[in-house]
Amino acid sequence: MSAQADEHAIEVDVVRDVNGFLRALAVRALVYMGEQNCPFEEEFDGNDFCGATHLIARAGAEPLGTLRLRWFANFAKIERVAVVANARDGEAARALVTKAVTLAARKGYRRLIGYVDATLVTYWKRTQRVTVREQRPRLQFSGRDYVEVELAIAPPADAISADTPGLIMLRPEGAWDEPGVLDRSAERATLATAEAPWRSR
Ligand SMILES: CC(C)(COP(=O)(O)OP(=O)(O)OC[C@H]1O[C@@H](n2cnc3c(N)ncnc32)[C@H](O)[C@@H]1OP(=O)(O)O)[C@@H](O)C(=O)NCCC(=O)NCCS
Repeated sequence: MSAQADEHAIEVDVVRDVNGFLRALAVRALVYMGEQNCPFEEEFDGNDFCGATHLIARAGAEPLGTLRLRWFANFAKIERVAVVANARDGEAARALVTKAVTLAARKGYRRLIGYVDATLVTYWKRTQRVTVREQRPRLQFSGRDYVEVELAIAPPADAISADTPGLIMLRPEGAWDEPGVLDRSAERATLATAEAPWRSR
């Protein structure tokens, strides 16, 4: 693949730092506040730092889309799915939801819930095969109608559980298959306080 093609490839990351979070906020400000006139306090609703994981779809450094997952005891909730207007060709949205499903399944979840814009129910049924929760009432907030949908997902054999080896569980969210900083730390001999590794650099 050429360097130019790489630059335009869409990648989805779990947000792990402030810059990643700023990218997610930029997309949400553009899409929800800018396009849908959502008030700031309704968009940034107090749930961004509470039991939430943010995903960012990007081409190189440029954010294209975002999605928020919130984790409950036996279901996860997909929220704030947004793709910037000039990147709406289905690819970023598909990549974001695929990553969300993979992440939730690896964490052992079997059920995803979402409130989707009532005008997009057909889209979500077609693209993600969601089912409308007919017994649940529609909601209206931020000036729009929402319909509750769900998606059954299947955890893989290596889903994270209480019996997952400790060092795997300690790896960064979603990066459970790559050695992390604590794997390297575990290989190091126990250090006396005076031997802090940064002192010998
Ligand atoms: C939802 C979203 C992520 C989908 O992105 P995408 O897959 O790249 O695709 P598009 O935006 O081109 O839309 C996909 C389909 O939904 C339709 N659609 C998008 N917005 C719509 C709206 N407000 N009303 C009705 N239809 C709409 C498009 O016409 C298109 O239909 P088609 O597939 O039959 O041609 C993107 O439209 C978006 O960010 N929307 C604003 C934020 C939002 O509403 N999020 C979803 C909350 S449930």
